[in-house]
Amino acid sequence: MGKRQTIEISTAEAKRQMDIISQLSHHIKDKGLKYFTQTFGCQMNAHDSEKIQGMLTQMGYTETDKEAEADLILYNTCCVRENAENKIFGKLGYLKKLKRLKPDLMIALCGCMMQQDIILENLKKNYRHVDIIFGTYNIYKLPELLQTRFETGKKVIDIWDSHQDIVEDLPSERKFLFKACVNIMYGCNNFCTYCIVPYVRGRERSREPQDILKEIRTLVEDGVKEIMLLGQNVNSYGKTLDTPMSFADLIREVNKIEGLERIRFMTSHPKDLSDDLIAAMAECDKVCNSLHLPFQAGSTNVLTRMNRRYTKEQYLELVRKVKAAMPDIALTTDIIVAFPGETDEDFEETMDVVRQVRFSGAFTFVYSKRTGTPAATMEDQIPEEVSKERFNRLLDLVNSTQAEHMQSFIGKVTDVLLEEVNKQDATLLSGRTSEGILVHVKADQSFIGEIVNIKIISAKTHYLMGELVSDECE
Ligand code: 5AD
Ligand code: SF4
Repeated sequence: MGKRQTIEISTAEAKRQMDIISQLSHHIKDKGLKYFTQTFGCQMNAHDSEKIQGMLTQMGYTETDKEAEADLILYNTCCVRENAENKIFGKLGYLKKLKRLKPDLMIALCGCMMQQDIILENLKKNYRHVDIIFGTYNIYKLPELLQTRFETGKKVIDIWDSHQDIVEDLPSERKFLFKACVNIMYGCNNFCTYCIVPYVRGRERSREPQDILKEIRTLVEDGVKEIMLLGQNVNSYGKTLDTPMSFADLIREVNKIEGLERIRFMTSHPKDLSDDLIAAMAECDKVCNSLHLPFQAGSTNVLTRMNRRYTKEQYLELVRKVKAAMPDIALTTDIIVAFPGETDEDFEETMDVVRQVRFSGAFTFVYSKRTGTPAATMEDQIPEEVSKERFNRLLDLVNSTQAEHMQSFIGKVTDVLLEEVNKQDATLLSGRTSEGILVHVKADQSFIGEIVNIKIISAKTHYLMGELVSDECE
């Protein structure tokens, strides 16, 4: 353990882990052990955590939402921005005290942060109370790592630099019965100069279409109506397969699955968004009326230094084509403010893109320096007071275009997948439109998991209020 390795894993590996799961389950069930997990970062991490939870449940653990009650605490970490990392170190400080009170407590860390050497060294030296550390490539090995920890009583560290194969058929625990995420590819080849992801999640690897389709069919048989196809750059899906297949054609195949009602996907890179994909989105009735298309920065100069490989004009042209094919589509995006060297004029170009596109939503970030990426050593890092001022101005603009978009729904009847009881008001159910917009509606709990028609009666910045249209009430 502890040695870095590059390994190819056969699908039989999943079976080996399942055997370990069944060996462990007696011991864990007998003791009534509980686990607590917390996930940081993106949808990819959230989906990895579903797999982790699936394995822990099969091992006999029950979930608790209270850290203090848990026998195993696992954090699935993110390192895309510095504040995500700081949160983990803060949490580990708290766990040190908890472990003093409860010496049998097992602490596990996994995910993107663990793939960085400096972090790993820091954890080994200063956070000795962590019991198990693994990375992004070997999540499926959790049963074996736990078994080793139980048997040897020693710290277990298993970080790999990469791996080629993809392990299929692991258990997974979904938060919702009727919607699910499905990985279609792993890793990223783009090396945007600010981004740590290619270093911690490795090169692009696509799953075989038949494995993806089989998984979706099984999910649909299990009651799933909506799926989210996940990948760091879904638009380049299939290029590395022995028999290459485009993402557009994958969508066409998924669209044929009977019983499936909604298809979403993320994330799309503008440089790889083909005309054929736009055509597939428009022609496939199950593809939702939304597209997440990060533009990151409006200035072509900044985009070049970010290694995004498109210009402002090309991005706007892409948006024009998408809107021509799907006029009411809801576009969302990611934007980074204060990339090194960003001038006031550059920033105004970002504001200009937001004004022109009128996004229905945007995730806005202040640039965060990530050691090891090319942008970290670029000159002219932007002072905090400048980045904060730009960030606030951008946020105001994003909120106002979002509010305008929300207003446009008032009076319309739209289909909503009702997902859960509203957390603030138990008489309301909350769900999402095809555009991905949150809607609250007075409805009986029996509607959870149903796609229903809802008339929108009012709009706030981040959600809509609606009422069930009459035939649904009968
Ligand atoms: N600083 C700020 N934001 C970043 N992102 C990725 N790396 C950084 C960074 N170093 C943002 C991008 C990406 C989203 C997932 O996170 O906008 O699309
Ligand atoms: Fe990071 Fe760029 Fe890859 Fe997205 S496309 S994961 S921003 S390197």
